[in-house]
Formats: sequence, C-alpha cells, structure tokens
Amino acid sequence: MYCVRKVTDDLYWVGGNDNRLSLFENIHPIPRGVSYNSYLLLDEKTVLFDTVDWSVCHQFFDNIEAVLGDRTLDYLIINHVEPDHAACIEEIILHYPDVKIISSKKADLFMHQFGFCTDNRITEVKEGDTASFGKHEVTFVSAPMVHWPEAMVTYDTTNGALFSADAFGTFGSLNGKLFNDEMDFDRDWIDDARRYYTNIVGKYGLQVQALLKKASKLDIKFICPLHGPVWRNNLGYFLDKYDKWSSYEPEEKGVLIVYGSMYGNTENAATILAAKLIEKGITNVKMYDVSKTHVSYLISESFKYSHIVLACPTYNLNIYPPMLDYLMDMKALNLQKRTFAILGNGTWAPQSAKLIHEFLDNMKEMDVLEDDMIVTSSVKDNNIDSINVIADNIIKSIN
Ligand code: FEO
Repeated sequence: MYCVRKVTDDLYWVGGNDNRLSLFENIHPIPRGVSYNSYLLLDEKTVLFDTVDWSVCHQFFDNIEAVLGDRTLDYLIINHVEPDHAACIEEIILHYPDVKIISSKKADLFMHQFGFCTDNRITEVKEGDTASFGKHEVTFVSAPMVHWPEAMVTYDTTNGALFSADAFGTFGSLNGKLFNDEMDFDRDWIDDARRYYTNIVGKYGLQVQALLKKASKLDIKFICPLHGPVWRNNLGYFLDKYDKWSSYEPEEKGVLIVYGSMYGNTENAATILAAKLIEKGITNVKMYDVSKTHVSYLISESFKYSHIVLACPTYNLNIYPPMLDYLMDMKALNLQKRTFAILGNGTWAPQSAKLIHEFLDNMKEMDVLEDDMIVTSSVKDNNIDSINVIADNIIKSIN
C-alpha cells in the first residue's frame, strides 16, 4: 500500500524508510533507521528525482504508481549514483520502458560500472544546463564529492525546490513525518544529522563550501535531500550548521574527553580531570569510553566541540588500538582546528602520549596543549598537580 507525502503543489515524496537496517554502509549504526527519499513531479511531463535503496523498492513502486495514476514516467533525474539511491534504476526502466534518464557524465559512467542496463536513454548534463518539463524548469548544479564525484543537485526555478542529493541529509527514519517543522529537529535530529554529515561527507569540507556558495545564489524554498526531512522554513539554521561543519569550525566551546582504559585506571584519571574542569567552571564536558562507543559517534562529537582530551594506555608499545582507530578516522575525515590535551598511561614503557602527540602533529591546524600528563599504572597523589595543570591549560585556552 502506498504511503506518499505532498511536498508542494505538483511535487510528491515517494521514498521509503528502513527501520531494519543496523549499519548504514555496513559501518555506521542507525538505531533510528534511515529514509531513502525520492520525489515525483507531475508536470506536462512526469519527472522522478532519484530512486531508492533496494530494501524499500516495493514501497517505492507502490508510491510511484499511486501518484502517477494512469500516467507513465517520462524522466528520471539521477543526482547521485550510490546504490542507496540508484539501486532501483533498472526496475524503473523495466516498469517504464520509455523513460529518459538525465545525469552527469560521470554518473553515466558509474551506472555502467554498476551494471545498470540504461541502453541509450541517458542525456548527460553539466553545470548550468537546464531542462523544461512544462511549467517547471530545472537547472543542474554540479556538486562533486558531495559525496561522490558524479554528484549533482537540481534546482527547480519554478517552485524553488533544491534536490540536494546527500547534502542536508540525516540518519533517522521519517516514519510519517516529512518536513522539518513537523519535528523538533534541534532536540531530536541534530545529533543524527551531524553524525551523518561528519562521517559520510565530513572529509569533503572544501567541496561542501563550494556547493554552499552556489546555493547562496539560489532562491531556495525547499531543500529536498535524499535522506531525512524536507526543509521548508528556517533554512538558515541548517545552512549555518553545514557552514560550520564544512569549515571545521566547532559548534560549541566545550571539552570532549575520549578515554580508553583496560582496568579503570586511565578512566579514573580522565574522570578526575573532568571533575576538575567542572569544579573550575567548565561544565560543557562530555566523556566517552573509546572501547564502548562506535567511532561514528566520536567523530560527530569531535566536530561539535572545540577541545578534545585524549586519554589512553600504551598497548604493544603503541597507541591503544581503539584510540588509534578513532585518530585514524579523524584524520581520514579531515578534522581540523581543534585543541587537544593528552593523557597517557603505561606500566613499564608509557608511549601513548608521545605517539598521540606525533599523530596530531601530522594533522591540519591541530593545536596540542603543553604538559601531556603521564600516569604510570594508576593515578597517585603526585599526579594531581599534573591534572590541575591540564585543566588550567584547557580553561585558559577556552576562555
Ligand atoms: Fe546516500 Fe552517498 O548516498
């Protein structure tokens, strides 16, 4: 049975939600599911904007058929070829054999690489090209590396809808809702939106900035992403978040403490430091156990906070493996402009603080505060001065 939502006038959401998938891209936990959005325009010609993941393909066709009625599908615009959006292209061709496909040149190549049998039905478009479907005219805007190189976004100059591909998406199923004003986004969605952005597109801040610059010249009334809610008001709120995330500026002054602890001693040091910071007036402090927290959450929080404390033992004369994983992900995702304090532990050859320091020295615009703290096995009275020094250094740097 179909489940569609009207976006505006002759535009409909015809996507689906997956609440059974555990890991997005088989990596990132999605306890609140994910939506795969697709949009159908009923003009003189009928136009579908992207398809959906295979998991919701059946629902997708129920939705399309309900909206089309006895009409056929004339056009399919492919903004992004990643299979969570493109998996149903061949099914579309089978159902609507005369459908014409519009995509970027690279998307055409990728569709062939994925083995989609698109025959000779593809019209390749590039930046600034337009297409008219009757009342509606659209402009194609290239958006390379947001999040794949073939990506583009499509702007409908008639109703102001921006079909933004992965940009402005978020984890989380819509479950009947569609618009940002039907939910308390800042309370219930922003953490998933940040985790989606930082882990999926975070590496490509420069390219996202380029897209934001292009978007600033458009009179956007609706942002229609491929995941999560459609934005129809308060667009500045989300554009501002994207500007911050893509320029690697922290959202908040605060301290993220990420610790790894084999027997509780490093955790003890991290907790004492947290208590000192809070006693001294810095209350925006969050602690996470690196061994128990999926790295996607740590990355998201790292994009949020201005200061990060890394605390872990030495393991095989190296950085504690879960901490090293987190650091490598942080580097891969290009995080910049953060201030760190480091706390290392070791029983006979403490190396972790030194090695973390060296790792951060090889990243862009990372500031590491002086006076790494070294614990030998467990925190003792003579460590308290060092913890106070670290707390004071952080406070001086935040204020
Ligand atoms: Fe939601 Fe890059 O695909």
